[in-house]
Parts: sequence; structure tokens; C-alpha cells
Amino acid sequence: MSDVFMNTYHRLPVTFASGGGCYLFDVNGKRYLDFSSGIAVNCLGHRHPALLAALDAQAKKLFHVSNYYQCDTAEAFARKLTAAARMKKVFLCNSGAEANECACKIARKYSLVKYGEGRHTIVTLKGSFHGRTITTLSATGQDRLHKDFGPFTAGFRFIEGGNIEELKTTLDSSVCALFMEAVQGESGVIPQSAEFIAAAAEICAKKDILLMFDEIQCGLGRTGNFFAFEHYGVKADVVTLAKGLAGGLPVGAALAGEKTCDVLGVGDHGSTFGANPLAAACGTAVLDVVDNAAFLSGIAEKGAYFKQKLEALKPKITAVRGRGLILAADLNVDAWPVLEKLLDNGLLALTAGGPRTLRFLPPYIISNDQIDEGLDILNSVLKS
Ligand SMILES: Cc1ncc(COP(=O)(O)O)c(C=O)c1O
Repeated sequence: MSDVFMNTYHRLPVTFASGGGCYLFDVNGKRYLDFSSGIAVNCLGHRHPALLAALDAQAKKLFHVSNYYQCDTAEAFARKLTAAARMKKVFLCNSGAEANECACKIARKYSLVKYGEGRHTIVTLKGSFHGRTITTLSATGQDRLHKDFGPFTAGFRFIEGGNIEELKTTLDSSVCALFMEAVQGESGVIPQSAEFIAAAAEICAKKDILLMFDEIQCGLGRTGNFFAFEHYGVKADVVTLAKGLAGGLPVGAALAGEKTCDVLGVGDHGSTFGANPLAAACGTAVLDVVDNAAFLSGIAEKGAYFKQKLEALKPKITAVRGRGLILAADLNVDAWPVLEKLLDNGLLALTAGGPRTLRFLPPYIISNDQIDEGLDILNSVLKS
């Protein structure tokens, strides 16, 4: 274990030296099939030619320019992103937590300006994950992550996903926004029910409560639609993205619709590195590939194939969840030792939620043959 980093991660005993496509290579040259994508970041795999070309071209021109000036690379990315997202405007930052901070600020100011004081509560779901800063942690509906870090930002309330009665009583006159993941990633790939999202959209529209989706893990095509919430036929007032948006460079985005796009004004928000040209160039390259109907339906098809192959591993796998290339498998044994054995056998996966859940977030460029290759490794590890 390294003695130089704060001990915040349970790091596995492997050091990667390079990557290509869906594979990573460690310092000894051993190859690993990547079913984790750096937790949904390397959505186009490793060293995708379009990303290499975009990064190289931008690096030869300009690394950074302040947001006090115009930047064509950032502007092109913002235009492409808002078009792909079918939203009006975007604030660019560097991470998911920052994108969610921005969403919370939009919600608070929207309500304050329109309705005055006392309508600042943001409702989120139990089991949600919205980030590690104090405010996004305050928004996160998981007690175990709150331990030791209080006091928290006031004005967040948690409800049970799927509980429409609780939704109705909680969305009262003190609430400015409902903020949720259509598919909760960190808590074990938990999709919300269609009835719950439909009821949420209806109540929010009626009471002018902002409907905000955190699509940082489940969005950007991962479920086979550009956004996971689109499967439910609803529209968002604010959506956040990060992780895979620049294929491995740090970027976050808070996207605002018609109602919310002009809430933040000059001096209300900022980020030194936000809209960084290197990240923006890579973001455009990612969107050139992902914002394409055939590519998105390819993700859905590969996801269906992956899911069906996981189902075939029952009863060693007790339950399978997810959609597209965000999938989870509950095991009848602890997941962490399985993850370690998968690593020994050249497969990278993730855990999530409870102690017996494995999560898979493979790159979108995964092939059915590579899905077979990885699930053969999983099968042999589960048998041993
Ligand atoms: C749904 C969701 N929201 C927010 C975050 C926080 O993103 P970041 O780690 O980039 O701050 C994550 C990270 O896992 C996430 O999965």
C-alpha cells in the first residue's frame, strides 16, 4: 500500500501501465479485460483514436484559457452537448459533484427569485449518490457516507424511491426541486419504477418543483438512450453529466432547460478549469461517437446480450439488474473476494450497494465476443 496517498480507497494490488480498446495492461504486461471503464469514465475504451486525435490537435493549440474569454473549442462542445441533451444551456465544470452543486444552486435561486424565502428544500432518494463535497454528500441518501462529516448543508430531505404516497406528501410548499438518478449506480444499479417517475413528473409540473436528474453514471448513452430518464418519457428541468463525457478527461456539466437556463447570472457561479479546451475537445469527440441512434441502439443490444448471459449464470448469480451497459449481479457469496479472483484472472469489475453485488460498466465499444470472454472468466471464478 502506498504511504503517500491518504488512505481513502481500497486499492487492488495491480498497477496499470497502458491501455487499448477494452483492455488494460499492467506493469508486467498482463492483460485485463475492462468491465469497469474507470467507473463509467472510459466510455469509448482506452486510447480511442478519435479521442487521441482530438486531444493531440487541441494540445498543439491551447491548453487553458480563462472563462473571461471566448473559446471556440468550448463553445463547439457546449453547442453539441446541449443539442444532444435537448437542453437550452450548460454550465461546464470538472466533476460530477461540481455539476450537482450547480444543479442545487439553480434550484435554490429559481425558487427564491420566483417564490421568495422558505421554498429551498431539495428532495432526493434514499440510496442515492450525488457526490462527496459537503453539499452533494448532504444530498446523498446514504447514512453510512454521512458518518463523521456533519454538520451538513441544510435543506435536503430523503424519500424512498418507488413510494408514491411519500412522494406526494413530501413534495410540499417548502420544496424547490426533486433530484434523482433514474438508475441508482452506486447503490447497486437500482432503476426507478415507471409509475414513480411518472408521478414525480406530474407533481413537479403541477407545483412548479424542478425535476432534476443526476445522469452522471447512468446517462450519456449507457442505458441505450442518451439519458436514462428518457426511457420514462419525461423531461428534465436540470440534468447533470460527468464521468464519461470527455472519455477520461475531467469534465462535468449541469444542463438547464427552458425554465432554468437563465437562472444563474454573472458572478453567480464559476469554475477556473470549467470548459477547459482539452476536456472540451475530447467531449466533442465523445459526442460525435455517442450521439448517434445506431450507436445507442448498439449499446442497448449489447446490454441485452450481456444481461441474458448473466441470467444464464443463475443460481450462482441470484438476481440481475440494469439496462444497457450498466448492470449488476447479486451473488450468493461475498462480492469482494470474487472481484479479487476476477482480477487474478484478468477481468476488471466493480462492486456496488450491498456486500454481495457485482457491477459491470464496460466500455460502449465492447463486442459480444468480449462479453463472452469476460463472462467465461466470471463463470469459472464463481464455480471455483
Ligand atoms: C450518480 C453520481 N452522481 C455523482 C457522482 C460524483 O461524481 P464525481 O466523483 O465526479 O464528483 C457520482 C460518482 O460516482 C455518481 O455516480
